Amino acid sequence: MRIKNICCIGAGYVGGPTMAVIAQKCPEINVTVVDINENRIAAWNDEDVNNIPIYEPGLSNIVGEARGRNLFFSTDVDAAIDNADMIFISVNTPTKTYGIGKGMAADLKFIELCARQIARVATTDKIVVEKSTLPVRTAEALRNILDDTGNGVKYQILSNPEFLAEGTAVDDLMDPDRVLIGGDMDTSEGAEAVEALVNVYAHWIDRERILRTNVWSSELSKLTANAFLAQRVSSINSLSELCEKTGADVNEVAKAVGMDSRIGPKFLQSSVGFGGSCFQKDILNLVYIAKSYGLHEVADYWEQVIIMNDHQKRRFAANIVKTLFNTVSGKKITVLGWAFKKDTNDTRESAAIYVVDYLLNEQAEVVVYDPKVTAEQIYNDLEYLGNRSDGHNRSKVSVVGSAEQACIDSHAVAVLTEWDEFKDLDWSSIYQNMLKPAFLFDGRRLLDKEEKVKLGFNFYAIGS
Ligand code: NAD
Ligand code: UGA
Repeated sequence: MRIKNICCIGAGYVGGPTMAVIAQKCPEINVTVVDINENRIAAWNDEDVNNIPIYEPGLSNIVGEARGRNLFFSTDVDAAIDNADMIFISVNTPTKTYGIGKGMAADLKFIELCARQIARVATTDKIVVEKSTLPVRTAEALRNILDDTGNGVKYQILSNPEFLAEGTAVDDLMDPDRVLIGGDMDTSEGAEAVEALVNVYAHWIDRERILRTNVWSSELSKLTANAFLAQRVSSINSLSELCEKTGADVNEVAKAVGMDSRIGPKFLQSSVGFGGSCFQKDILNLVYIAKSYGLHEVADYWEQVIIMNDHQKRRFAANIVKTLFNTVSGKKITVLGWAFKKDTNDTRESAAIYVVDYLLNEQAEVVVYDPKVTAEQIYNDLEYLGNRSDGHNRSKVSVVGSAEQACIDSHAVAVLTEWDEFKDLDWSSIYQNMLKPAFLFDGRRLLDKEEKVKLGFNFYAIGS
């Protein structure tokens, strides 16, 4: 089976970059990415390719090359569905904010809407690919909807979870550790559908790195991978606090531990806490699934990863207050970095949101600078927490256009995202322009301590 037309529902952080790379690598396949968000689609179609809605190093070049050739962005979801041989579902699957499973389970309403729309519109056989991260056994629900409400056409359902990380999405897509495809390998139609997707990826990825599993293993492997990664961050962060009490240094501990080849060096960077749209959501989902099967010890084990992460964010903020003589009321605190990690404009679940919320509760005046995040996004993030009015947030938080400007007359600077440019700031002049004593809190272990202390800063870095 040769795939000629692909449709991807959802033009977000996964749908956009993934489909751009497929289109670039498979020039004979037409790829149409659709979304109900008109502004997002308009931005993907912006004449100036630098205005695409997602900032990812290298992405605008790829979009520039493929867009209009075999890569299209559209709001006409029905037409793209009907035209496609293969449909990727790449819509958001946030944590439920209502009803049963509120605050834990994945909200699958967007997935279900996609399935119902495909069933309503499709007039030819389709391969439907779960690209979104989903609870194990979601494919069963998709199958029920497609078979019971469809037009009698045949569907194959595959699970093909995405492992890209933001900020390195293009590299991750070009050269992934593995591609995982789950399908119904017991039937010839299922196996054929799996091979059709394998052949798409085989345009640029070694076949040995393309794994075939059953659907449930594939769905569960995605949740497991994120849980393991987040667990490593919480593990090292839990030890950062012990390092601060004992005189050990968390970077030295991480290096010593990570050089054990059984453990490995990655994901041992201590921080103010992990953020991003997925780690917390996927672990909460895993916890909910375990609980729903009555596996309470399994659920408690994984929930601890989240508890530790919340603690890390809170203790970082509390330490600022404590260090500034137990009050930040009316004091100007500068926050450098709002994105949940460097090289992305994504702020979902960023530690900065929670640290600033804590400081605002303590009546601080906050000034924020982030090289890629807009002021509106910052206010939206604070408003979403619902802890105070938008007017209050806007009067207490200002967003400025440079790090140097953000630091003028402030009592303390907190580095919350590891943007490279923060390493090379003129820290000497920043120090001159701050109130004294000048405090510097490094939540990312980005800055050189000795140098900053020499300049006169009272310097705190997480885990030392
Ligand atoms: P996103 O919110 O950036 O994008 C989802 C898009 O889907 C939105 O633009 C939304 O308008 C659109 N959408 C929702 N319902 C729709 C519908 N019925 N029809 C058309 N469009 C619809 O989300 P994302 O970050 O791209 O994540 C998507 C999925 O991929 C999630 O399940 C996530 O867990 C998973 N994932 C994300 C990442 C990541 O780095 N962000 C990595 C791996 C996996
Ligand atoms: C993560 C996974 O790495 C991807 O494989 C996965 O596809 C994705 O989630 C997803 O499912 O959404 P992402 O959240 O984009 O990717 O970014 P990461 O690099 O994993 O970082 C997550 C958070 O952990 C960031 O806030 C980062 O600063 C923090 N982190 C990461 C640390 O604090 N220390 C580390 O050592 C590594």
